Amino acid sequence: MPDMQHDSSTLSWNAMGEEWLTLAQTGESRMRFIMPHMLRYMGDVRGLRILDLGCGEGGYARKLAAAGAIVTAVDCSEAALAYAQRQASAEGLDIAHHLRNSNDLFGLADASFDVVLSSMMLMDVEDLAGTLREAARVLEPGGRMLVSMLHPCFDGNHETGIGRQGAGETREVVVKNYFEPRAWSAPLPNGSTPVIWRHRTLSEYVKAFLAAGFVISDMHEPRATAEEAAAFPSLTMIRRIPLFLYWELMKC
Ligand SMILES: C[S@@+](CC[C@H](N)C(=O)[O-])C[C@H]1O[C@@H](n2cnc3c(N)ncnc32)[C@H](O)[C@@H]1O
Repeated sequence: MPDMQHDSSTLSWNAMGEEWLTLAQTGESRMRFIMPHMLRYMGDVRGLRILDLGCGEGGYARKLAAAGAIVTAVDCSEAALAYAQRQASAEGLDIAHHLRNSNDLFGLADASFDVVLSSMMLMDVEDLAGTLREAARVLEPGGRMLVSMLHPCFDGNHETGIGRQGAGETREVVVKNYFEPRAWSAPLPNGSTPVIWRHRTLSEYVKAFLAAGFVISDMHEPRATAEEAAAFPSLTMIRRIPLFLYWELMKC
């Protein structure tokens, strides 16, 4: 087998080491909002062959396997993948793990998955076109790619892209600049190790999906329920502002 070829995204996420594991598992928006909404959006996964692309600490892969899916998990981070592997075996779950750059899924056969999940990772990858090309390659015709991302309406760079002001019910997002796809390095919320972030516009994503041979079969802007906001005040803003965007893509 060839080794994984690094690029700026794989180097940057490897340099994070184990920091992401704690941030992921304690992050209220991931644990209480993005993940449960995505798992509901995916529907019944029993018997489906699912590739968790950019699996991170493997939380989705474990939940999907426990729900009856046949799961393969891929990530470029050695620390994250090692943790995901350990946890899966501790929980008695049979999940195949592979260290890969998402733009080269060598060893994974063409048309061998029903679903590719890409949770909060497409905006991180350097090679968006290559990642989508590989996702399309490993999907069966008619297979689905389910994607979550920071809503591209908002460039997540708090200095130059978006601002936030106010608190609670009146917290606002201020769009400072939308039109300049670019990369920058900054720690994740509550983190200390810088990682590369990227902003791409909505049209850039749509054009990349179409170029890779996908059709867009659905878009979803998950909204926090009143109950979620009452239980977790940090989610209050997502009652009014769509901070995240989910896509369902179909391989033609
Ligand atoms: C924000 S984390 C999301 C992790 C997980 N999907 C989740 O939602 O908890 C982004 C993940 O994508 C991985 N990643 C970034 N660039 C990648 C690439 N080019 N190939 C494979 N994985 C990549 C990182 O190592 C990291 O685990």
